[in-house]
Amino acid sequence: MTAIPTPISPGPSNATSGDSPNVADTNVVRTPPLKIQGIKTKAVPFIRDSVSWGGTGRWIEPFVGSAVVPLNIQPKRALLGDANPHLIHFYVAIQCGDVTSATARTFLEQEGERLRRDGQEHYYQVRERFNEHGDPHDFLFLNRACFNGLIRFNKKGYFNTPFCRKPERFRTAYITKICNQVQRAADCMAGKEWEFVCADWTDIIREAREGDFVYCDPPYAGRFTDYFNSWTDDDASRLEDCLKVLPCRFLYSMWSENKYRKNERLHDVFSDYEIRTFSHFYHLGSTEDLRNEITEALVMG
Ligand SMILES: C[S@@+](CC[C@H](N)C(=O)[O-])C[C@H]1O[C@@H](n2cnc3c(N)ncnc32)[C@H](O)[C@@H]1O
Repeated sequence: MTAIPTPISPGPSNATSGDSPNVADTNVVRTPPLKIQGIKTKAVPFIRDSVSWGGTGRWIEPFVGSAVVPLNIQPKRALLGDANPHLIHFYVAIQCGDVTSATARTFLEQEGERLRRDGQEHYYQVRERFNEHGDPHDFLFLNRACFNGLIRFNKKGYFNTPFCRKPERFRTAYITKICNQVQRAADCMAGKEWEFVCADWTDIIREAREGDFVYCDPPYAGRFTDYFNSWTDDDASRLEDCLKVLPCRFLYSMWSENKYRKNERLHDVFSDYEIRTFSHFYHLGSTEDLRNEITEALVMG
């Protein structure tokens, strides 16, 4: 039984909704206004299809990241956590109306114009301002103007990704696309009980009760680390132990194999569980030899 009040079937392709603010087509994957490393946009149909839940409790997601999964699952009640306060503040700002598609448009038009005029100097001014005040509109701008969309924070917790070197980036169509994503996120959360909390995963997962559903997509150990995003084998072990004793169903996303190796550990630890896999290409660079296929695992608890 699928949990979602309005069941959404997996899309036939990786189609994403870029421009339309109201997505009537349930095969379409709603893209969130924020991009982060490891975003699960491509895996949404696979995840959505694997959710088996009565929908009575809360959707609990301790590593919510860009929120692409809950935005597509659309649970009525949710507890969504992340260690990165900027991701959480951004969605809270949408929920309380501090960030809307209209404020985002005005802001991106204004900052985009300054970027066109002053180039990278303006990008670094906004970055400095963001590191001082943490404004969600600045975060949105940086998220879309930084190098390769790489959200990275240094040891002091300051955003430190360099400029993408595209001062013409914020053209009208691009701004419209982002604003539509903001609008869609707002529409999706309206009338629902979604609580966003900046916390360590341990504080979120301990809230799980019978009838809830937990989806965990932690960082991959050793893959990418920054101030809000370090993950070790010990962290993975602790999470896996917690998942096994949850009072409710869960899904656990982890890499399964790539061109070079298989995640034997995951398959050992969850040898008693069904593990579904999904392969896709990820792009590390511009040339063919830098593109690799990765197989992701979804442990069904
Ligand atoms: C792989 S990303 C999640 C991606 C998300 N599923 C998406 O599609 O956007 C992992 C997330 O875990 C968060 N994170 C890292 N360490 C954490 C911790 N100890 N507790 C809670 N969140 C953590 C990171 O900030 C990051 O947003």
